[in-house]
Amino acid sequence: MNYKIAVIPGDGIGPEIVGVSTKVLDKIAEKFDHTFDYTEVLAGGVAIDACDNPLPQETVDICLASDAVLLGALGGPKWDNLPGDKRPEAGLLGLRKSLGLYANLRPAILYQELKDACPLKPEIIGDELDMMVVRELTGGIYFGEKGRDGDFAAWDIMKYSRPEVLRIARTAFTIAMKRNKKVTNVDKANVLEVSRFWRSIVIEVSKDFPEVELNHLYVDNAAMQLVINPKQFDVIVTGNLFGDILSDEASMITGSIGMLPSASMADGKFGMFEPIHGSAPDIAGQDKANPIATIVSVAMMLRYSLDLIEEADAIEAAVKKTLARGYRTGDIYTEGTTLVGTIEMGQRVMENL
Ligand code: NAD
Ligand code: IPM
Ligand code: MN
Repeated sequence: MNYKIAVIPGDGIGPEIVGVSTKVLDKIAEKFDHTFDYTEVLAGGVAIDACDNPLPQETVDICLASDAVLLGALGGPKWDNLPGDKRPEAGLLGLRKSLGLYANLRPAILYQELKDACPLKPEIIGDELDMMVVRELTGGIYFGEKGRDGDFAAWDIMKYSRPEVLRIARTAFTIAMKRNKKVTNVDKANVLEVSRFWRSIVIEVSKDFPEVELNHLYVDNAAMQLVINPKQFDVIVTGNLFGDILSDEASMITGSIGMLPSASMADGKFGMFEPIHGSAPDIAGQDKANPIATIVSVAMMLRYSLDLIEEADAIEAAVKKTLARGYRTGDIYTEGTTLVGTIEMGQRVMENL
């Protein structure tokens, strides 16, 4: 089969990790007799530099005409002093909104090979850690009304509508049905009206999924529970801001933020696939970035958008094998393993495919 993939390398380490990941995908194409047609498009800082716009319309059009989108990372210190709507990050938010990507799936899985890289004690992590953060991605405080009263005050409104909560809650329960049938709703319903509204709709949706156990945590407690007892979680459903924060925290349990992939899904099969980390300006251009989050994001793309399950499994197995053979980038390095760069990590994954 022939698939059209829009590729947005972006800024910082983006081009390095995406370059390695499309090579892995090329190997899949060869092995399974597919063709992936890549169209590279601009967004973020590089788009600001090229055409003074973090999200050119052409980029949106090409993404919409593709089967899926692969994104590296956007942003960096060079563009940090631009006004909010002109920053690289505005390009990312614009992409999510204009492509209708409301469901952000961020699986945090600790590979047994990386147990030593996890900062938690072995008795806390046990034999297995596998949770899924389902983050609402096109609403909440990220997209509410914002404003500023000169140098006196500024505000961002956190607002959720009923349809927005209904669909993300359904996504979470549907995913839980295929997993361990447990959903933890994370909100701040003891303080925020928007959270009380959100929670009531989650409870309403839960009635359609009687097999799924539902519990609720306030976000402050959830942040703590992730460290003290992460094994209690199967699916976490939460809003845009809380999901952003908790998924970075969950990523560290897997050894590094450089390990965590994500799928940002619209209704149906269309999605954008990206690591959860950023452009890592501190290590950009040094062949130090861990490409695994992006490589596994490609596996999510094959699984969720293209229905290529065997191919997705093959990538995940190759990553596991590479880790089992002891290859590590700096962020997951522990004594006795072999330190490699971004490019070599990609090559090692390919030779295990
Ligand atoms: P970051 O995720 O870029 O980096 C945080 C820390 O994690 C850094 O020390 C970095 O070196 C390390 N790190 C991140 N990815 C890594 C990898 N693959 N391998 C090894 N180490 C890795 O977060 P930040 O520093 O807060 O943000 C930098 C820029 O990225 C900002 O402009 C921010 O807005 C942007 N950002 C973009 C995205 C995205 O495009 N999806 C996500 C987060 C942050
Ligand atoms: C992420 C990032 C983005 C977010 C930023 C860069 C807009 O942190 O993808 O997690 O907050 O969603
Ligand atoms: Mn984030």
